Amino acid sequence: MNLKKLAADKAVELIENGMTVGLGTGSTAYWAIHGIADRMKEGLSIRAVATSEASDKLARELGIPIVPFHEVDVIDITIDGADETDSQMNLIKGGGGALLREKIVAASSRQLIIIVDESKVVDRLGKFPLPVEVVPFAVELTLKKLAKLGCEPKLRLTEDGSLFKTDNGNYTADCSFGSISDPAGLHDELNAIPGVVDNGLFIRMASRVIVGSEKGISTL
Ligand code: 5RP
Repeated sequence: MNLKKLAADKAVELIENGMTVGLGTGSTAYWAIHGIADRMKEGLSIRAVATSEASDKLARELGIPIVPFHEVDVIDITIDGADETDSQMNLIKGGGGALLREKIVAASSRQLIIIVDESKVVDRLGKFPLPVEVVPFAVELTLKKLAKLGCEPKLRLTEDGSLFKTDNGNYTADCSFGSISDPAGLHDELNAIPGVVDNGLFIRMASRVIVGSEKGISTL
């Protein structure tokens, strides 16, 4: 069973005619974008904004109308994946490299629906290395400040070994904390470091987490 698709299909059912929809990024959001395109073939009428160049491209290829942000006041619903979620719906995101755009869109969304397979649900966040978007200037100094918070930051590389650049032209430091006891506190400490643009902790932003498992769908 494709558990990511299962969760995505359930989330897509929440979309109503006339809504402005935020499109997430990653292999789970991929299924949601396909599900939206399928519903549009059956008559659903929506407009969308995308959280990455990749999702923008996929949506346009599937015929989903992408509107510029200056035409949007509020996004009715955003459907996005996550790398980890705890039972409080605090999230680690950014494994797909789009955390900043995802957070900007999420922050202007009436509802943020997170879709995950059961492997992403954890008791405590932090096993997944926390992505932190950092500006390239003096990145070595920023990495030292990150390490002082108790992690091992590693700049993300692409498959060919070059530095991965986000859609915003920044780098991503993947920071292994192992276990994060105070996600909200860590979020604020990270974002207080000059050179950090934002980090992948999404605290109290999710409205609902839809979990696909072998037993079916459940929600947090
Ligand atoms: C991208 C993200 C993704 O939602 C997250 O990495 C989960 O990806 P996937 O659905 O491929 O497992 O935050 O920046």
